[in-house]
Amino acid sequence: MNILITGGAGFIGTNLARALVHGGDSVTLLDNFSPQIHGSNDQLPEDLRSAVRLVRGDVRDESIWTAAVRDQQVIVNLAAETGTGQSMYEVAKYEQVNLAGTSLLYDRLAKQPGHGVERIVVASSRAIYGEGAYTCPNHGLVFPQPRSSAEKKAGSFDPVCPVCAAACVSVPTPETAPCQPSSFYGLTKQVQEQMTLLFGQVLGIPSVALRYQNVYGPGQSLKNPYTGILAIFSNLARTGVDINIFEDGEESRDFVYIDDVVRATVASIHSADTTSFAANVGSNERTTVMHVAQSVNRYFGEKSKIHISGVFREGDIRHGVADLTRAKAKLNYDPSVRFQEGLKNFLAWAEESEPELDGYQRSLNELESRGLLHGRKI
Ligand SMILES: NC(=O)c1ccc[n+]([C@@H]2O[C@H](COP(=O)([O-])OP(=O)(O)OC[C@H]3O[C@@H](n4cnc5c(N)ncnc54)[C@H](O)[C@@H]3O)[C@@H](O)[C@H]2O)c1
Repeated sequence: MNILITGGAGFIGTNLARALVHGGDSVTLLDNFSPQIHGSNDQLPEDLRSAVRLVRGDVRDESIWTAAVRDQQVIVNLAAETGTGQSMYEVAKYEQVNLAGTSLLYDRLAKQPGHGVERIVVASSRAIYGEGAYTCPNHGLVFPQPRSSAEKKAGSFDPVCPVCAAACVSVPTPETAPCQPSSFYGLTKQVQEQMTLLFGQVLGIPSVALRYQNVYGPGQSLKNPYTGILAIFSNLARTGVDINIFEDGEESRDFVYIDDVVRATVASIHSADTTSFAANVGSNERTTVMHVAQSVNRYFGEKSKIHISGVFREGDIRHGVADLTRAKAKLNYDPSVRFQEGLKNFLAWAEESEPELDGYQRSLNELESRGLLHGRKI
């Protein structure tokens, strides 16, 4: 098939492109090599240079879509700004790239009947859920509201039951959970997903929104200081700089290995299912941020001190773990890489790459100067 991947020079895009080329598909990548992600390197990895067609351009540029969409049967829409914290002050940029960019895609398709696009896959995110699913001893399954700054400032980080304010316990979040994102990034992903499913229906293009959890693995950007805690912690641990953990370190994430994400995405591209739907793509494994910091620090010889800071970022959620029942049913998806195994692969790769430190401190300073980083040392 002819497949266009927007944001195709990024972490997920390059890994997906390799798998598709390997499977015999003809792949085009559209990317502007955003310096925040790529630094000064505006080239594709060597193995992809002759294997794919590259369209250099910005999804905010209407004219780029004409060239990119021509003759495509499938579009995988990955191009995005991806920093949760950064989205809270670079609001217009996130709106333009993540929403206006996707609007231009649908403008092009709507104005060009006979375009030949048969399927669209969009990268959605677990960020659309906000705090996600919990069980309350009194009210069963509940979906807490975003946590208030006042509670977090008082050192109380766990969401409470939205009905009775009792302490509740995080459980895997299903796709039926309400969308109540805690960050503007999450809101852009929610709207991008809904646009994809809406226009998929209107234009008769089966469309799939993949709600990726925290994707990690070799090849992820070590340069982007706004996202990816594995990259951030490994940059710090390698160079012996102290690691300050937000909140109390007990916050947790569902880290999903890149190979599993690629398999789910390929399955959604080649699926015979003509319905449109959203599905979680995760590991269903819960890992605390403290465990990540300790594992990364241990790998690099425990040169860094780990501090629990009690500081918190506006926009962050407390816990995230995906319910994968729908992904299994629709995409025959089962994650195959456990966190400890994937982490080893990631760290072995990161060790061989150039660390990047300046950006992370700058990103924290930006948050602090905008009043988006709060809290006390605990
Ligand atoms: N990595 C994760 O943990 C994760 C989790 C949930 C969702 N997602 C989503 O998956 C998608 C891909 O993520 P990734 O991890 O590969 O990110 P990435 O930052 O590695 O890749 C994004 C790519 O998009 C390109 N890009 C950015 N702005 C652009 C623009 N205006 N025009 C053209 N290209 C542009 C960048 O240059 C980059 O190559 C994103 O939509 C992201 O929101 C990722």
